[in-house]
Amino acid sequence: MENAVSVTVNGRVHDKTIPIRMLLVDFLRDELGLTGTHVGCTYEGRCGACTVVVDGRATKSCMMLAVQANGCRVVTVEGLENFGGSPGALHPIQQGFWERHGLQCGYCTPGMMMTIFDILATNVREGAPELTAEAIRQSLVGNICRCTGYSHIVEAVQSAAAQLRAMVPEERAAW
Ligand code: FES
Ligand code: FES
Repeated sequence: MENAVSVTVNGRVHDKTIPIRMLLVDFLRDELGLTGTHVGCTYEGRCGACTVVVDGRATKSCMMLAVQANGCRVVTVEGLENFGGSPGALHPIQQGFWERHGLQCGYCTPGMMMTIFDILATNVREGAPELTAEAIRQSLVGNICRCTGYSHIVEAVQSAAAQLRAMVPEERAAW
């Protein structure tokens, strides 16, 4: 059985007819070719490698049907460049990972970045108190890094948060 969907991904509207049981992660990877979203635990919701942002909330895309995203706005790791950075520059989250050595094999990294995108969008835009290292670790509890480089990931988030706080309000409002 097939269904028509219209999903906005990284600012672009995609109208497709897809199997009703297709998962959002497969829609992104196989239908749209956005392979930055990874599958790390064979669709069991345990690793977080497939995390994307759906209508502003970090979501494991292996736990959601693509038809459930009909009418939604989805941001994947490929879309980070549309938010908060200057054209052609790394996004502050990417910059933070690069500066603080926040990845090793990189398999978990896209999912980590999209969870962090949600956390920091809420935290920085709403002017909440600075996140502690413990709060960052708690926020990332659903994202597993098999290389176990968690200390550097926490530092990368702190670096990204500092860059975002330094932005002028108009830049931050784009989040
Ligand atoms: Fe979705 Fe592991 S592939 S949580
Ligand atoms: Fe290898 Fe996280 S950097 S799984």
